[in-house]
Amino acid sequence: MPYYRQVGEIPRKRHTQFRTPEGGLYAEELMGVEGFSSDSALLYHRHLPTAIVDSQTADDQRRDTEPNLPLKPRHFKTPDLTWDNADAVTGRRVLFGNSDVVIAFVAATAPSPLYRNATGDELLYVQTGSGVVETIYGALPVGDGDYVVIPTSCTYRVVPTAGEPMRILVLEATGHIGPPKRYLSAKGQFLEHSPYCERDVRGPSEPLLADGEDVDVLVRHRAGLTRFTYANHPFDVVGWDGCLYPWAFNVRDFEPITGRLHQPPPVHQTFEGPNFVVCSFCPRKVDYHPLSIPVPYNHANVDSDELMFYVGGNYEARKGSGIGIGSLSLHPAGCTHGPQPGAVEASLGADFFDETAVMVDTFRPLELGEAAQACEDDAYAWTWARRQRA
Ligand SMILES: [Fe+2]
Repeated sequence: MPYYRQVGEIPRKRHTQFRTPEGGLYAEELMGVEGFSSDSALLYHRHLPTAIVDSQTADDQRRDTEPNLPLKPRHFKTPDLTWDNADAVTGRRVLFGNSDVVIAFVAATAPSPLYRNATGDELLYVQTGSGVVETIYGALPVGDGDYVVIPTSCTYRVVPTAGEPMRILVLEATGHIGPPKRYLSAKGQFLEHSPYCERDVRGPSEPLLADGEDVDVLVRHRAGLTRFTYANHPFDVVGWDGCLYPWAFNVRDFEPITGRLHQPPPVHQTFEGPNFVVCSFCPRKVDYHPLSIPVPYNHANVDSDELMFYVGGNYEARKGSGIGIGSLSLHPAGCTHGPQPGAVEASLGADFFDETAVMVDTFRPLELGEAAQACEDDAYAWTWARRQRA
């Protein structure tokens, strides 16, 4: 998506001779989506990006997800999950998945291997901690509240800052992730009614170069995991330009859309992917009609499963549910959900909600992964009735 960007050195004209200081030619690579009919980037490598010296099937530890049975609202506590010096790629534990998206979580303390996801774009949401996402396009320093969009087949690794773990919610799509199209002009500029714009988007600003021979890159593809060994380090791009590159956007830069009466969930939409959307619920002035009810109404989104990740503040509508920071609620299609008992009355007269949450709505049912099963709060479904059938 994002607008045109140029980093490092590139020749005046594309597809022309661009020489190294030693007189050789840089190797040109065009990365493009949708059969080169959409966004692309033109990169200039010191070495051939095609030069692999080995390819081995890698051990894929992922187990299949299981259907959400019996169907019910569910609550999961990511703080209950544990890792032992994990990295942000191999340490991912699958929470949910369907044929469109895999949703995983990791608390990363170790640098990840070089990695590339060939199945689709990835969206990382950094809940806490900080680090650097190193890519062939350059480095992106990231911290808490950052969304990071990593294009399909972009080689990268995540290097956490020592100290606090990087707790990351990971969405692995089977297609491309970008801003909602309704916020973009026909030519791709953010429109005035968009809750964020180009000034909020960060991209790599300078080349990231590394030396090395026989360098491994882990590749997730539609058939599983493969480890390629490259003759030279993939971080050898001296310059690139185009509209296809990794980018970051901080949730605190999302400007909430508010109104006199309760605004519907689409006003919080931040990204769209294949058969899912991502929304940001940010601290905001709440509904200011004199008789407004600031918390949401009970709602049945009949075409979506709704996953909410609670990352900051107090989530007013969920008081009494057991939900806290780091919780995930899953409200699947087929049942109605809404504020906990007493939340409507307690919200009357409120003028500000200090809450931050990331919502993922999927248009196909989410199945449960091993991490979800490991951190579920079994009592959640009965919190509206305040009792379970005896
Ligand atoms: Fe909801």
